[in-house]
Amino acid sequence: MSGPISETLLDIKSLELRYGAAVAVRDISLTVRRGQLVAVIGNNGAGKSSLVRGASGLVRPSGGTVTFKGEDTTRLPAHKKVARGLVMVPEGRLLFPDQSVEDNLILGAYAHGGLKGEKARAALERVLTLFPRLKERLAQQAGSMSGGEQQMLAIARGLMGDPELLIIDELSLGLAPKIVDQLMGVLTDLNKAGLTILLVEQLASYALAIADAAYVIANGRVARSGPAAELARDPEVMAAFLGKKAPRAA
Ligand SMILES: Nc1ncnc2c1ncn2[C@@H]1O[C@H](COP(=O)(O)OP(=O)(O)O)[C@@H](O)[C@H]1O
Ligand SMILES: [Mg+2]
Repeated sequence: MSGPISETLLDIKSLELRYGAAVAVRDISLTVRRGQLVAVIGNNGAGKSSLVRGASGLVRPSGGTVTFKGEDTTRLPAHKKVARGLVMVPEGRLLFPDQSVEDNLILGAYAHGGLKGEKARAALERVLTLFPRLKERLAQQAGSMSGGEQQMLAIARGLMGDPELLIIDELSLGLAPKIVDQLMGVLTDLNKAGLTILLVEQLASYALAIADAAYVIANGRVARSGPAAELARDPEVMAAFLGKKAPRAA
């Protein structure tokens, strides 16, 4: 992103995260500035989900710091981070499949703690304008929709929490390329409208195509980082993702 250097929103320093004795994140430092769309790419098992679980407070890091809007939030639980504007759409979406689309959306607002009445209705209005498909299906059970619609709902639910930083873990998981394109377009629009986004994505070329900056994670560490356009042209980075979807011919 060009223009003046903006405020650092998320600043992760030397993050370490373990599950029992297993180390999933060894040493990751990562910065997201306000207004940016930052991609985190890397192969399966690299530590991407663990990184964002640590950032969002779902798992408490065993080392390092997570600073959000200048505040040390390393030890804050997820709901307190949501209240501060850090919202994550988890891998696998984790919707309430038996509940209606509307109830899932309302739950996104409750997680924020303070969104009630008029503010929640305004937030609902906003996300339904963004996803007209969901508007048609407000009364439908979330679990009965297509994968793409469920991912839309997961993003919409995240937006109901009124985030300053939206973290999305695996946007494309299980979705057809056409749907992925559509959702990537939605993220681009949200980012242009001012939302800061951290996108974790296995389909590297898709993520690099819409991101400002990117981090390549391997083995719980940052293997490479830099402007997304540079990484997309880097033969070593691309070689590491052979077998992933190749970039479209321009
Ligand atoms: N809940 C968990 N318990 C134990 N090990 C886990 C758990 N989640 C992930 N891991 C391990 O941590 C490492 C990183 O996994 P993960 O963060 O899910 O990677 P990615 O999201 O890049 O695929 C892997 O070795 C994985 O097996
Ligand atoms: Mg993952």
